[in-house]
Amino acid sequence: MSLAKQNFSNVVEDAINQQIAMEQAAAHTYLSISSYMGSDSVALPGLEKFFREQAEEEREHAQNLMNYQNTRGGQVVLQTVPAPEFEWVSAKNAVESALQLEKDVNKSLLRIESLAEEQNDSEFVMHLRTKFLKEQVNSIEDISKLITQLNRVGGDSLGLYLFDQTLLKEGIDAIVG
Ligand SMILES: [Fe+2]
Repeated sequence: MSLAKQNFSNVVEDAINQQIAMEQAAAHTYLSISSYMGSDSVALPGLEKFFREQAEEEREHAQNLMNYQNTRGGQVVLQTVPAPEFEWVSAKNAVESALQLEKDVNKSLLRIESLAEEQNDSEFVMHLRTKFLKEQVNSIEDISKLITQLNRVGGDSLGLYLFDQTLLKEGIDAIVG
């Protein structure tokens, strides 16, 4: 029994472990997308770099929740990370998958926020709101704008090359504002 544990339900403890698994799976998917973007037939180094950074962010989210679990006296239980998709059809198709992934993660965060509210765990509710939920809606906006820009420039085009070079050299803000 943890000495630190106070007002921390098993429901929340389990939900944190599930969320850790989800963040790790997201990191894994982003590594797959990044590698696809870097393959010789796709060759989009801006998107390769962007998704490598996204993978790192997801790994940090998992780490944040592992630290939080320990802070509250819960037990970190890691799970098997599923193999991600790897046969992406196009750059746009892969970015659209990323949008769906971010929405799924957001849905899961909102679900565990309401679980924590039901358990009157206001400290964890606050942690989710300040460290996760805001960032999640920003990610959804950024990736949605990436898709709009990709639609604008079209498939294999000079526009796609310029889009990717801008992303590589100036970062996401130069693309999405
Ligand atoms: Fe995340």
